[in-house]
Amino acid sequence: MDINNYLHEKRDLVDAFFKKYYSRSHIPAVLQEAMLYSLFAGGKRVRPILALASYETCGGNPLDIVPYASSLELIHTYSLIHDDLPAMDNDDLRRGKPTNHRVYGEAIAILAGDALLTDAFAILADPSFSSGITPSNLLFALREVAFASGLDGMVAGQVQDILSEKKEPDTDTLFFIHTRKTGALLRASVRMGPILFGSNQEVLDALSTYGEHVGLAFQVIDDILDIEGSTEELGKSIGSDEKIKKMTYPRLYGIQKSKDIAEHLIADAHEALSIFGSEADTLREIADYILMRRS
Ligand code: IPE
Ligand code: IPE
Ligand code: MG
Ligand code: MG
Ligand code: MG
Repeated sequence: MDINNYLHEKRDLVDAFFKKYYSRSHIPAVLQEAMLYSLFAGGKRVRPILALASYETCGGNPLDIVPYASSLELIHTYSLIHDDLPAMDNDDLRRGKPTNHRVYGEAIAILAGDALLTDAFAILADPSFSSGITPSNLLFALREVAFASGLDGMVAGQVQDILSEKKEPDTDTLFFIHTRKTGALLRASVRMGPILFGSNQEVLDALSTYGEHVGLAFQVIDDILDIEGSTEELGKSIGSDEKIKKMTYPRLYGIQKSKDIAEHLIADAHEALSIFGSEADTLREIADYILMRRS
C-alpha cells in the first residue's frame, strides 16, 4: 500500500476511536471542549501509527490495539499544550490554530493537558479494550509508556530543554534533551507493538533500536523545520527556537550537518530492521517519511 494511503487510513482509525471515546460527556463542558480542540486540530498521529505498524510487523492485526495506540496521541497532545504555554516555549500557533492557552486561558490549558495525560493511562489500564492481549503484556506496555513520558523520558527532556535555553550547546546535553523530550515516546510507541504482541527479545531489541534512531531523527528534523519549514505547512510558527535560544542540532552543528545526522539516523533505523523481511516494509517507509517530512 502507498505510504500516504497507509498513514491516512491509520489516522482515521485513531480519530474514530477518539470520537467514540469522547462522546461520553465531561463536566464541565469547557474541559471537554479544550481537550477536543487540540486533539482534533489535525496532528499527524505519528506515535499511534508507529505502534500500529510495529504491531503489524510482529504479526498482529493493528485493529486489535487501536485504543492502546491512540493513548500515545493523548500523551503527545498533552505535551504540546503544555510545551506551548508562556512558561515554556510561549507559542501562539499549533496545528494551524491558536494554541490552547490562547483560546481557553492558561488554567484550562494546563488542566486539559492533565486530563489528556490521565486519560491515556485510563485507556492503557482498561483490559476491556483488549482483543487477546494478555494482562501482563498490557501492564508491560503501560509501564513502558509511563517511563517514556515521565522522569526517564519526556518530562526529564523538557526540564533540560528549559534549563539549556541561552546556553552554549554541547553534544551530550543536546543528545540528552532530544532523546528524552521526543525520542523516548516515539521509541515507546514502536516498542508497544512487540510488547503487546509478546514478541521475543530479538524482535524487541531490533524494534527498540529502530525506535531510538527514528525518535532522535524526528526531533533533529523538527529543529531543522523550525528554521527551513513554512508556517503554513507546519501549522506552527517558525523561528521559535532562535527566538528563545533553544539548544538545537542546527545551533551546534549547522543545518547541513544536522541533515546529515538525520540521514544517518534513518539509515541506522533501516539497519536495525535487517532481521525482518517485507513484514517491516511499512516501518521502513515510515522512517523515510520522517526524514522527508515538511510538516
Ligand atoms: C511536534 O510533534 C513536537 C515534537 C515532539 C517534535 P509532531 O510533529 O508529531 O506534531 P503533530 O502531532 O503532527 O502536530
Ligand atoms: C517538543 O519539542 C517536545 C515536546 C512537546 C515534548 P519542541 O518544543 O521543539 O516542539 P515544537 O517545535 O514546539 O512542536
Ligand atoms: Mg519545547
Ligand atoms: Mg515548542
Ligand atoms: Mg521544535
